[in-house]
Amino acid sequence: MQWITWKPRKIRAEAVTANLAFVQSNYELIVSREQDFYHGERPSASIPGIFTYWAVKYLSPRLREMFNAASIEEFYANEIERVAPDGPLSILSLGSGEASTELEIAIILVARGRTVKFYGTDISPAMSEAGRQNAEAKGLANSFEFLTCDINKQFPPTDATIVLANHSLHHFVELEFIFSNVRRQIGAEGAFITNDMIGRNGHQRWPEVRGFVEAFWRLLPVDKRVDRIHNIRKMEFKDFDCANGTFEGIRAQDILPLCLQTFNFERFLGTGGIPDVFLDRMYGGNFSHDDPVDTAFVDVLENTNTSLALLGLVKPTIMFATMRNKPIECAYWPAHPSVAMRHPD
Ligand SMILES: C[S@@+](CC[C@H](N)C(=O)[O-])C[C@H]1O[C@@H](n2cnc3c(N)ncnc32)[C@H](O)[C@@H]1O
Repeated sequence: MQWITWKPRKIRAEAVTANLAFVQSNYELIVSREQDFYHGERPSASIPGIFTYWAVKYLSPRLREMFNAASIEEFYANEIERVAPDGPLSILSLGSGEASTELEIAIILVARGRTVKFYGTDISPAMSEAGRQNAEAKGLANSFEFLTCDINKQFPPTDATIVLANHSLHHFVELEFIFSNVRRQIGAEGAFITNDMIGRNGHQRWPEVRGFVEAFWRLLPVDKRVDRIHNIRKMEFKDFDCANGTFEGIRAQDILPLCLQTFNFERFLGTGGIPDVFLDRMYGGNFSHDDPVDTAFVDVLENTNTSLALLGLVKPTIMFATMRNKPIECAYWPAHPSVAMRHPD
């Protein structure tokens, strides 16, 4: 088997944003920034408690209903077992970082009596090394192999029939190259399973969501309008473009359309939209999961979002999905992925 090497091919003209053009012409610099940021540990900023409140109350029941899963790791493990109920499992993870998700998935599968081989890939040598050490510490060194590579440029040769990507697709530039290789890799019976960000590039708000976010913003007392990353109070809501000079969300809005072009969806759970900005690392720390006023505010955000998502008026920013090559019936919430897709303006 051979590594598949990327050959320059034009990205659709309408997908080329100023950020993408900058990243493409300063590629080595942005790669080194990525490697510096992912230097061996998951980035330290902790997830705000209010995000956990939202996830437990609103995401968990949906994961349970669609995937019979009590956690994200169980979502992956259950989907892997569903598509490959027998025999040894060979799984390739794209942008696996220090592999904590993959290790938990492996622990679940091994406990269920499965034989597992995981291939982790990451552009950061430090993350690959951390993954190796973590696998060893968990007694799973023989089940894991780590390959340091740039998945935008090189697709590794493995015998995997299942491909995972956990929160990494939104860092990738050459999605067309990657998805065509995933398609080849999973063959007739394999699957591509992911939990990733599919909202607007740079994780910004689409205009229809921004209007709601601005309206809710004005309801907030000023002490809840603090950007906790830059330590600045924002009287008016100002969106932040995470893809400005980084891979973060660089082609997030292209992920779902390209997945729809390349694969058939078997399961699609979409979530996120209006609540995101009030739960994330920038503003989530302004709210407390112990404060009934704060949690009631999040309930209103989520219920507004759910109603609008069911009407197709706002589109999900996060997906949990299983995709196949073969034509297959799709279970979905809140809408079929082709309807949940946001066409760029
Ligand atoms: C948000 S982290 C997710 C890591 C891991 N999957 C997790 O869930 O913790 C994104 C990961 O993608 C890796 N990455 C970014 N660009 C990549 C590329 N072109 N090829 C391989 N890995 C890449 C980063 O180094 C980082 O570890």
